[in-house]
Amino acid sequence: MTAPLPVPFNDLKPKVAAHRAAIDRAIARVLDRGYFVLGPEVEAFEKELASAMGMKDAVSVGNGTDAIILALEARGIGPGDEVITSPMSAAFSALAISRLGATPVFGDIDPVTMNLDPQTIEARITSRTKAILPVHLYGHPADLDPIMDIAREHGLGVVEDACQAHGARYKGRPVGSVAGIGALSFYPTKNLGGVGDGGAILVDDPDVAQKLRKLRNGGQSERYQHEIIGTNSRLDEIQAAILRELLQTLDAETARRREIAERYFEAFRGIPLCLPEEQSYARAVYHLFVVRHPRRDAFMTALADRGVGTLIHYPVALHLQRAYATLGGKSGDRPNVEKAANEIVSLPVYPELTDAQVGVVIDAVKRAVDA
Ligand SMILES: Cc1ncc(COP(=O)(O)O)c(C=O)c1O
Repeated sequence: MTAPLPVPFNDLKPKVAAHRAAIDRAIARVLDRGYFVLGPEVEAFEKELASAMGMKDAVSVGNGTDAIILALEARGIGPGDEVITSPMSAAFSALAISRLGATPVFGDIDPVTMNLDPQTIEARITSRTKAILPVHLYGHPADLDPIMDIAREHGLGVVEDACQAHGARYKGRPVGSVAGIGALSFYPTKNLGGVGDGGAILVDDPDVAQKLRKLRNGGQSERYQHEIIGTNSRLDEIQAAILRELLQTLDAETARRREIAERYFEAFRGIPLCLPEEQSYARAVYHLFVVRHPRRDAFMTALADRGVGTLIHYPVALHLQRAYATLGGKSGDRPNVEKAANEIVSLPVYPELTDAQVGVVIDAVKRAVDA
């Protein structure tokens, strides 16, 4: 009998190895050109990304958080405004709202999709509410139609946080493109992940795109002409060159993620484990494969004992984070997210997992489920 393969929760080394020649070529191209910020690689990447995501334009920035900040700012969100968002996300979604001097107002989640439940939005709308920030969590689209309906009815903007969902589709349309403006992150572990930080805003309005290009570059319309108060949030040429290479294999990697998810669904049918459910309106890209277990911590330990790494995305609902204590969120306020935060666990699902490693995860889960 062979010893079980250890399966780290994530491992970027095989990804780099698979793309090493292309990455080296991209870096050499930029070094040879000697042009490092806002040059031809960024320009080409933005065009290729927009085309891949079914959007008119894409504006690259330093990271996904900045993409959300600038998208909200371009939509006119500022000090004193309120933005309704999901309490289950990377905290960066909400922190982006706070960075503008606005206040995140947390709805509750749909316990099946873990995304912002549209039914929890309307009761939280006040005279200060300016926008809704749905998050396509784990690579599964949020239910956008009811959110867009509420936004239309109340005159609110919508910005999609698609940082975890590159290429996921809502009713056939790539997420990040449905509301007219959406944010992507290229953090290394993301479905389209670079070798450092990066982000982009997908945008359909040329005037908004132009404003975003100014905002990311100090508010300049041309060199040394600062028209508005911008920031410095630019994607490096090297990062853009690498992302151009990686974008070419995104579809194949998404297909592999879906294939691994399919193996999990098949193998875990009938065992006492709550699985994600792809909704009829959705084509998920499985950034994460998140299951629920009532004795989550014991389950995770039993998996670790069998060589399978897991993580929790996310253990603390955002209304209960210390940074948001001043908003007055209390335990019991949002029952769905609080229950989920105690039960969720993410299994390895990255495309470089070998079939043997997937087999190890399946075997370990089946044995650990009674933990
Ligand atoms: C849902 C979500 N929103 C926003 C972010 C922020 O992206 P970044 O880390 O590139 O700033 C992340 C990633 O951490 C994320 O997962």
